[in-house]
Amino acid sequence: MVYVTRREVFSASHRLTNQELSDDENIEIYDKCNNPYGHGHNYTLEVVVAGNINPKTGYVIDLKKLKKIIKSKVISKVDHHHFNFDVDFMKGIIPTTENIAIGIWKLLVNEITEGKLYSVKLFETENNYIEYKGE
Ligand code: NI
Repeated sequence: MVYVTRREVFSASHRLTNQELSDDENIEIYDKCNNPYGHGHNYTLEVVVAGNINPKTGYVIDLKKLKKIIKSKVISKVDHHHFNFDVDFMKGIIPTTENIAIGIWKLLVNEITEGKLYSVKLFETENNYIEYKGE
């Protein structure tokens, strides 16, 4: 099995808040991340596709194609957007890195037809990232 990774970056805003909890509880759980107007991050997304090498091309997946899929299915929807307001696939979902990574997985999993989506890794900061492998 060979693993192919494409990295993309995007900037987006979010506010961590659970509508079902009181203001006090939200502040206790999320602290500054609950600030009413949100805040931004420069996210780094790593998408890993696993598969066998196609003997005709020498590729698992053509990275140009993978780049196009990620740009059109994910980056165009999130870059310079606010997860709480104008990102359709996060509607009604608390925009933690965990939930965003799962949302991105769902957008991509059926789009990748050469090899198979293996993982979505989403860095919110240099030191914090979430990896999702489905299920
Ligand atoms: Ni944040």
